[in-house]
Amino acid sequence: MTKIVSVFRKAHFNAAHRLHLPELSEDENKELFGKCNNPHFHGHNYNLEVKVTGPVDPKTGYVIDLKILNTLIEDEVCERFDHKNLNLDTEEFANLNPTAENIAIVIYDILEPKLASNLSLSVRLYETPRNFVEYNG
Ligand code: NI
Repeated sequence: MTKIVSVFRKAHFNAAHRLHLPELSEDENKELFGKCNNPHFHGHNYNLEVKVTGPVDPKTGYVIDLKILNTLIEDEVCERFDHKNLNLDTEEFANLNPTAENIAIVIYDILEPKLASNLSLSVRLYETPRNFVEYNG
C-alpha cells in the first residue's frame, strides 16, 4: 500500500514592502494597513515553510529529495525576493499589494508547476513570529 507523507523545508528571506491601494485615500490606506502603509517602505524577515505531500517512492524512500526542494526554493523564491523592495524591484508585486497572503499565493504559483504532478504543495509564510498565512492552492 502506498504511504502518503508530508515533507517540509524552511527558508528565509528579507524584503521591504509597502501595503497601499492607489484607489483609496491616504487616510483610508493608513487606517487599513497601519505601519505597513509607511510611505518609505519597511522590512520584514519572512520565514517560509514549504510542505510537499505525496507517496513515498518505494525505491528511494523519498517523497521528494529535500536537496532538490531546497535548491528550487533558493533559486526560485529566495533569489528572487531576498533583499528586494517587493513593490519596486519585482514584477510580481508591481501591481499586486504585497500582503503576506498575496506573497504566499505568488510563491505557491512559482513552485507548484515545478513539482511532479503526484505531489501537493502548501506554503506557509511568516511575516512576523506571530503573523502568518498558509496557502494550499
Ligand atoms: Ni509590513
